[in-house]
Amino acid sequence: MNYYLAPMEGITTYLFRNAFHRHFGGACKYFTPFLSNRGLSSRERNDVLPEHNTDIPLIPQILTNRSEEFLAVAKRLADYGYRTVNLNLGCPSPTVTSRKRGSGFLEDPEELDRFLDDIYTGCPLKISLKTRIGIADPAEWERLLSVYQKYPLEELIIHPRLQKEGYRGVPHYEAYGMAEERLSVPLCYNGDIVSAASRDMLLRKFPKVSAIMIGRGALKNPDLIRSLQAGCKPAPSRGEMLKKLRAFHDEILEGYCEIMSGDQPTLFKMKDLWTYLGTGFEPSDSSDKLLKKIRKANRIADYRNAVTEFFETQTPVG
Ligand SMILES: Cc1cc2nc3c(=O)[nH]c(=O)nc-3n(C[C@H](O)[C@H](O)[C@H](O)COP(=O)(O)O)c2cc1C
Repeated sequence: MNYYLAPMEGITTYLFRNAFHRHFGGACKYFTPFLSNRGLSSRERNDVLPEHNTDIPLIPQILTNRSEEFLAVAKRLADYGYRTVNLNLGCPSPTVTSRKRGSGFLEDPEELDRFLDDIYTGCPLKISLKTRIGIADPAEWERLLSVYQKYPLEELIIHPRLQKEGYRGVPHYEAYGMAEERLSVPLCYNGDIVSAASRDMLLRKFPKVSAIMIGRGALKNPDLIRSLQAGCKPAPSRGEMLKKLRAFHDEILEGYCEIMSGDQPTLFKMKDLWTYLGTGFEPSDSSDKLLKKIRKANRIADYRNAVTEFFETQTPVG
């Protein structure tokens, strides 16, 4: 089984990916959060620069609905030495979908078809897609599959939810099954894999799955992907796990402190991370209290103290 770390805008930056790869790992592919600037903003450029991603098997992801924009960014990425690029057809955020990008592009399969024709004809790189199954009705998936069927997709990553579902509800597993029946390109399943049990449930439904992308589960438990590997080393003891989490956290914090000016932008990034990381610990009144202290910290020094207290007193789940 191949596991990929999902792209998560604002969180899985190059600093996060490097720390994740060093302290936990297990993913054989990483994806950048979406790049949406034709000329690449300086944040986007830093995220894809090869020297910021050494040793990391990275696939940059583009978000656009204009083929000339896609091709311009792909050309830059080819110059950096990338061989594959991913197209985002999944983002459900209204600021993205209102401009017919991300999952918003799925509402117009004809235009999407023309766009794919242009990029598969003109792009120097291989192209994989990351898609949802439609906007509001699972019946839309059939039509989208008939479009995807026409192109030499390097891989199709399927998050089988509708745009309107956001990240809620049970994935439409049957939609993944339809893709297995209809397409001969490599497929990757994505959505709600948070444990060996959820992975095994997926494999009972679809024994042929050979690639799984994991997002929120790996933010809650950064050791998850490594621990799902067949024949992996046993799980670290609680004490070791705390040490690893601390080292992982501190590397990301120091990285942001170095590249961002002022406390606030760094605190903003770290607090975003805690939204997920905090749920990987045994819930209790004291954990709630300390997470609140972390969220309320206004200076890096206070933040560091709150985090130290958290790691010294709390227990990771499992
Ligand atoms: C905060 C956040 C940011 C995300 N950013 C991106 C993104 O930049 N590109 C993308 O393709 N998907 C993005 N996603 C979707 C995830 O990659 C993934 O498809 C989704 O979370 C379902 O997988 P999971 O259940 O394993 O988390 C984001 C999800 C979250 C929660």
